Amino acid sequence: MTSTAQTIRIDEFGGPEVMKLVALPVGEPGPGQLRIRHHACGLNYIDVYQRTGAYANPLPLVLGMEGAGIVEAVGEGVTHVKPGDRAAYASNPPGAYSEARVMPAMNVVRLPDDIAFDTAAGMMLKGLTVQYLLKKTLPQGGLQPGDHVLFHAAAGGVGLIACQWARHLGLQLIGTAGSDEKCRLALEHGAAHAINYRSEDFVARVKEITGGKGVKVVYDSIGKDTFERSLDCLRPFGLLASFGNASGPVPPFALGTLAAKGSLYVTRATLFTHLASRENTQAMADELFEVVRGETVKVRIAQRYALADVARAHHDLEARQTTGSTVLMP
Ligand SMILES: NC(=O)c1ccc[n+]([C@@H]2O[C@H](COP(=O)([O-])OP(=O)(O)OC[C@H]3O[C@@H](n4cnc5c(N)ncnc54)[C@H](OP(=O)(O)O)[C@@H]3O)[C@@H](O)[C@H]2O)c1
Repeated sequence: MTSTAQTIRIDEFGGPEVMKLVALPVGEPGPGQLRIRHHACGLNYIDVYQRTGAYANPLPLVLGMEGAGIVEAVGEGVTHVKPGDRAAYASNPPGAYSEARVMPAMNVVRLPDDIAFDTAAGMMLKGLTVQYLLKKTLPQGGLQPGDHVLFHAAAGGVGLIACQWARHLGLQLIGTAGSDEKCRLALEHGAAHAINYRSEDFVARVKEITGGKGVKVVYDSIGKDTFERSLDCLRPFGLLASFGNASGPVPPFALGTLAAKGSLYVTRATLFTHLASRENTQAMADELFEVVRGETVKVRIAQRYALADVARAHHDLEARQTTGSTVLMP
């Protein structure tokens, strides 16, 4: 059966205006694939990098890495989900900005009945990211309850989930955010401290909060604007986990800087290394489902847009006007 689906496609890289709503054919899944009908799609900052061409993909390109809906058909060899199942994913390749799509089944998991589609679309990519950051991207000796970590953009989609999950793990998360209102939101969601990094010197505040010692880990998704100063927030042997570049990519730096600042470690992490096998994907998703179903982590969907309104959604995300998660409704 071939039908068509309303889909957001770009034919060139550029601003939000390059995203066009088009009807595209959706065919049958091949081996290892499935067809899903989306009930909700997630908006992520990576969509901006892909739209602008900062992360290269061949054109034309359908954007979107996160979605939830009903499986309509599965291809040969797919046994972990079946037609009629509720399902959700964070997955390559992009293509979630659509009513329906055919995609690899590997990163698609069954969605528990008590998790709504919009919640799932607001948490799969962001929540799995928090899982691998807080549970697997660790300094020497790991993290123990009471340890301080610094998490930038703490009121954003990834950030609000991180605040709650860190509190659950007993960590003292120091969150940064771009306004006093966002700082309040981070605190309400479990950050132990919040710093408005547009009006305060976050290095000085981190030193003050940690009694001069610094934190064991900085989780930095801002990139260019924060990288150098994030290193200054670390204690000796601390870890800088760079996982995004909302302000632009981190410029090249002298490796010797890490020695001078206390034998520091740096990693540039991505979710998709962790999602390289179906077993890992399922195990990580199970942990996410557990904290969400137990209400340890509440997914705050603060913005909803019709899929056709995606340009406005991108504008608001890039203008730092959103908080928490954003979903697109096909
Ligand atoms: N590597 C991975 O595995 C992975 C996975 C998921 C997400 N990420 C990264 O994690 C970050 C958060 O993703 P998200 O989707 O949840 O987005 P988000 O945090 O909801 O939105 C990005 C936030 O970054 C902050 N920001 C600081 N400087 C900015 C600038 N110059 N332009 C725009 N925003 C700026 C803003 O918060 P303030 O106003 O509070 O500063 C903004 O709200 C992104 O960088 C994303 O690429 C990485």
